[in-house]
Amino acid sequence: MNDKLEEYILSHIDEEPAELARIDHDTHVQNYYWHMCSGHLQGRLIKMLTSMIKPRRVLEIGTFSGYSALCLAEGLVDDDCRVDTIEVNDEQEDFIRKHLALSPFGKRVCLHIGDARDIVPSLGERYDLVFIDANKRQYEEYYDLVMDHLNDGGYIIADNTLWAGKVVDPKAQHEAQTQGILAFNEKVKQDPRVEQVIIPMRDGLTLIHRL
Ligand SMILES: C[S@@+](CC[C@H](N)C(=O)[O-])C[C@H]1O[C@@H](n2cnc3c(N)ncnc32)[C@H](O)[C@@H]1O
Repeated sequence: MNDKLEEYILSHIDEEPAELARIDHDTHVQNYYWHMCSGHLQGRLIKMLTSMIKPRRVLEIGTFSGYSALCLAEGLVDDDCRVDTIEVNDEQEDFIRKHLALSPFGKRVCLHIGDARDIVPSLGERYDLVFIDANKRQYEEYYDLVMDHLNDGGYIIADNTLWAGKVVDPKAQHEAQTQGILAFNEKVKQDPRVEQVIIPMRDGLTLIHRL
């Protein structure tokens, strides 16, 4: 998307809450991988989708700086609902906890540090909504794992499913991350338990509905 169009969109959607703008700013300043943060447009979409789905329990795989976890939390009906968010990189923990504490929705978020593939089974929870946004090589594994813990009628939102267009770029087909996304997209397409749609926003966002 060109800068002018993005500027127009951002000035005609809900404003980015101050605490999220602060996370975005601090992530840009302090983290080399700042571009992984969901940001204003995708964040407002995640919040609105959560409000529409009205989940009691939400799981996020890949917290990074906590931006999307707080968008999920903001969309919840009340403080009895919860977001379990999992981050494998323990160097992120202080940053995440600091920003959760600064947000009015931070109390709805439970942060787990470790590999989602170990933590999800150990939590033994059932979820109504899952946001997958971690290692692209592991997307198939996350999907199998999450489907064991997703309620009927539940939703999965998977980020980066167009992988900067590499899914259709012949020169990128050998890359491990591209292969991970290709395998994930194929698995979802072939799964008769779900219906799915890919939104060509940002890096591609797949919405998956368990029937
Ligand atoms: C794209 S970032 C997440 C961005 C965040 N969801 C947002 O939208 O602001 C991906 C994160 O997943 C984490 N990650 C990678 N593999 C993981 C795993 N197996 N379990 C949990 N987190 C993982 C990475 O350390 C990284 O911080």
